[in-house]
Amino acid sequence: MASSHDGESSYFSYLDVFLLGVFILVLFLIVRKFRRRARGDDERVKKLQINPVIKQISSPVYSSSLSTSGSFIDKMKTRKKRVLILYGSQTGTGEEFSNRLAKDSSRLGLPAMTFDPEDCTDWDDLTRVGQEVEGSLVIFVMATYGEGDPTDNAQEFFDWLKETTDNLQGLKYTVFGLGNKTYEHYNEMGRYVDQRLEELGGERIYVRGEGDDDGNIEEDFITWKEGLWPEVMQYFKIDSSQATAVGREYEFSLHTEISTDEVFTGEPNRLGSYKNQKVPYNSKNPFLAPVTVIRELHKGGDRSCMHIELDITGSKLSYVAGDHVAIFPMNDPQQVERIGELLGIDLDSVFSLTNVDPEATKPHPFPCPTNKKLGATLLFFGCRNCAHDYLYQEELEEYESKGILSGLYVAFSREQIQFCRFVSRKEVWELIEGQGFFYVCGDARNMARDVQNTLLSIIKEHGGKTETEATEYIKKLQKRGRYLQDVWS
Ligand SMILES: Cc1cc2nc3c(=O)[nH]c(=O)nc-3n(C[C@H](O)[C@H](O)[C@H](O)COP(=O)(O)O)c2cc1C
Repeated sequence: MASSHDGESSYFSYLDVFLLGVFILVLFLIVRKFRRRARGDDERVKKLQINPVIKQISSPVYSSSLSTSGSFIDKMKTRKKRVLILYGSQTGTGEEFSNRLAKDSSRLGLPAMTFDPEDCTDWDDLTRVGQEVEGSLVIFVMATYGEGDPTDNAQEFFDWLKETTDNLQGLKYTVFGLGNKTYEHYNEMGRYVDQRLEELGGERIYVRGEGDDDGNIEEDFITWKEGLWPEVMQYFKIDSSQATAVGREYEFSLHTEISTDEVFTGEPNRLGSYKNQKVPYNSKNPFLAPVTVIRELHKGGDRSCMHIELDITGSKLSYVAGDHVAIFPMNDPQQVERIGELLGIDLDSVFSLTNVDPEATKPHPFPCPTNKKLGATLLFFGCRNCAHDYLYQEELEEYESKGILSGLYVAFSREQIQFCRFVSRKEVWELIEGQGFFYVCGDARNMARDVQNTLLSIIKEHGGKTETEATEYIKKLQKRGRYLQDVWS
């Protein structure tokens, strides 16, 4: 077992170095292309050509979720997979971990595929997979959100799991949960799935792992999977000599003659899409929006927060809260040139990389807020220093003077003389009782907890409730979506 691990690490370091080299080379080529075009050096530009070629891949190393909707048992059978990795992921960490598990597994002689639970049409598959796919294993990679809730793509699976009384005997499984210890409901999804599968008769063949995003989730994952594979190999009585090295994820080919029209200069999808902008725009066909306003929001100190306005006129794009804007940066050509020299790479080489990993899609990270007519609206804003950090001061004060905000309460933690306006605790209680909503945004470690504790004491004081009743009251608000947090640490 030890020798197989040695082999594994040296293989990966070689692969990493190879891919890094190729990646750097691609960057050189793209940057040089831009630099030369800027100089009008057409003659030399002709030599700089990259043509990503899409080839038919006959036998992928492993399958991703893109082509696996429907019955996962059928897919496993037709593709001769033994390991299924089901992931509940919102922002992609769990999905990425799943892809890595699939690669490890395939390399060790257990062909694997990842599967997005959203694509599952019949959860009955889980009751049959143990019997119908010989020597199979299901790995659940589950992130927790909200109040211990599943990710959007795992919601249906979660609902099924809660309701079902099916017998899962024959199912061999293990779980890796993703979470963050600063949240009250730490890793609740991973824990629930693990415990529920066992209750229904599934057989856990390796202990659940937990990743803490507040610590080092990557390390947690690696430590867990290092123990996983020896256990799995032993369980399925697989000799480590059966482990097979798989081909690289990219095919590399050099070109000598190719037309400049076929050269990509950083476009994500359509050739020439940056020069020749066409609707409809999306992440694969981005609209290059000019920056029209750029200003620093801090008025002093060494912190920086920029207000940036982009002009999307003519793009037919609209912006809704939660949408993302991408930045298209360029490398310093001199540095690129220098690295090229140091690595002894011919920056005029023209080559293609062919990806043999099918790409996976990611779900939208956050649900967008709805638009409702507002009643009384109080805003509490806190920062360090009034003169430096009071972001959007003019705008907020204008909203208050126009009555858009019925109350603006600011506090500064690092002022010589502390000053702040106070709101009556009774007023807060009356707003909550009057079907009010609470939105908390900012630091999870201290601020969000302090806010919750303050609210708890208000509920006790003005609602006449005990500690337990007040805690229950807040939980109910959370369940009904009336106490919403967008907090981080
Ligand atoms: C808005 C939000 C809410 C979260 N809620 C919880 C939670 O209740 N419990 C928990 O353990 N982790 C929570 N997390 C942490 C995530 O589970 C963690 O970052 C995880 O790595 C995300 O995995 P993903 O990228 O696959 O979606 C939350 C993260 C965010 C951004």
